[in-house]
Amino acid sequence: MFYKQHSLFLLSFAIFCEAANILYVIPFSSKSHYIFLKPIGLELARRGHNVTVITSYKEAKPPKTYHEVMVDNKSIWEIIGGERPNVFTMVGLSAEEFHDKILWSGGLAMTEVALNSKEVQELLKNDHKFDLVISEQFFQEAMYVLAHKYDAPLALVTTYGNCMRHNIITRNPLQLSTVISEFLDIREPTSFWGRLRNMYFALYEFVWWKYWYLEKQEALVKKYVPHLKEPVPSLYDLQKDTALMLYNSHFSFDNAAAYGPNIVEIGGVHLSKSDEVLPKDLQEILDGAKHGVVYVNFGSNVKSSELPLEKKNTFLNIFRELKQLVIWKWEDETLDDKPKNLIIRKWLPQKEILSHPNIKVFISHGGLIGTQEAIFHGIPIIGIPIYADQFNNLLQAQEIGFGQILEFKDINEENLRNKLNNVLKDDKYGVKAKEISARFKDRPMSALDTAVYWLEYVIRNKGATYMKNPALKLNRIASTMLDVYVFIFMVFTIIFFILTKILKTLFTNVSKNKRKQKRN
Ligand SMILES: *[C@@H]1O[C@H](CO)[C@@H](O)[C@H](O)[C@H]1NC(C)=O
Repeated sequence: MFYKQHSLFLLSFAIFCEAANILYVIPFSSKSHYIFLKPIGLELARRGHNVTVITSYKEAKPPKTYHEVMVDNKSIWEIIGGERPNVFTMVGLSAEEFHDKILWSGGLAMTEVALNSKEVQELLKNDHKFDLVISEQFFQEAMYVLAHKYDAPLALVTTYGNCMRHNIITRNPLQLSTVISEFLDIREPTSFWGRLRNMYFALYEFVWWKYWYLEKQEALVKKYVPHLKEPVPSLYDLQKDTALMLYNSHFSFDNAAAYGPNIVEIGGVHLSKSDEVLPKDLQEILDGAKHGVVYVNFGSNVKSSELPLEKKNTFLNIFRELKQLVIWKWEDETLDDKPKNLIIRKWLPQKEILSHPNIKVFISHGGLIGTQEAIFHGIPIIGIPIYADQFNNLLQAQEIGFGQILEFKDINEENLRNKLNNVLKDDKYGVKAKEISARFKDRPMSALDTAVYWLEYVIRNKGATYMKNPALKLNRIASTMLDVYVFIFMVFTIIFFILTKILKTLFTNVSKNKRKQKRN
């Protein structure tokens, strides 16, 4: 029965959305971004659409209608110039420094690499028709010009959730009191100082982004995407034309927020179709761990093997004390002084590992992808934030009650032992994690079906322009009602002024009369 309904459902998709030509622009060469973005393109192709993907990653067995346009293979570190730094040195960078040192320069460089890649230039030269351009929203705005080039609606996908830029693009309310900048570490985000810090950073980011960064991106458009139909709109205006935004968030974990109908949450999209299974050796190891497993992985960018010696020894000494088995993503061949209950691997199939019932706790850096995988499988987290949005993800997990933050500078034997004991011995973390897991999955459609539904919706409804916030047609002053507020303020001021004038004359007259009476 279920199967029948399911295929009927698919059939209705097939009837109502004919195969479309879709350009999917995801050139950024970060693995964690790709993990989130890849299922969307593949699923669109599986459902019969002709998908052309500008990407840094080659798929082993893509569907027939999935065409890869490869971006030259360069890591962000190569592009910025210089060696890949030890990522642990990024602990404690302010959001401003993180933008200055990495995001702005990295974003420009990787956009340039993408546009300058041979296969991309080839694609741009040939004649193509696209019904939809989907682009990642992450410091590569020059790519949006492809929507103008192909005269197609633009949909944006983002690997994280709500933020100032996304709200500016769609003219959604900024909600600065509850929407904290993704890269800002604020211990008490809703306190007065927390909100002031957030406001300051939003302003800082907005000014640099709109008046400096987007102009640099525009220069890249001029250099690498010639022969565009005039007039070419500015990137700021082009992005305001965004038909649909897909966020990697979900209100069951992230802060609830007000969203217009063209903003759709698809958090956990990479978990909707998990058909991979654990490799046999890991399956056996996990099955056999009768006291449970502590799983340690700091993500695809952070290398555990680069930990300072003292921190590394702290981990080893505490792991040695545990009766649980420990599995750690460790990027070197060997690890001196390795405890007997510790297993190291250079790469681990994380979502499959986290799905195993013997996993008791996940020691993580708090990257969003890993955090969602833990949420999905109901695993408590001990989080050591290193950079970017990690602190905020972990703060959320801590506030909800299935996670504990251990700051990098505070890693010592006592603290690590305490945190581990807390989570391993107190049931409440596991119970909360299971609760979050259930509510994260409790949706009318899976995240992947939701993403595909709304993308096809935009194609079916020719850009669905009616979904956009009508405030986009007003200027900032009108859309924030500032003019009306000022008007009301002025009316009240004038009334107040007149009233005081009248009262003053009355009062002076009365006192004059009194004085007169006295004299008489
Ligand atoms: C599919 O897209 C490719 C470009 O990647 C294009 O060459 C091809 O003609 C398209 N196929 C159809 C059926 O439109």
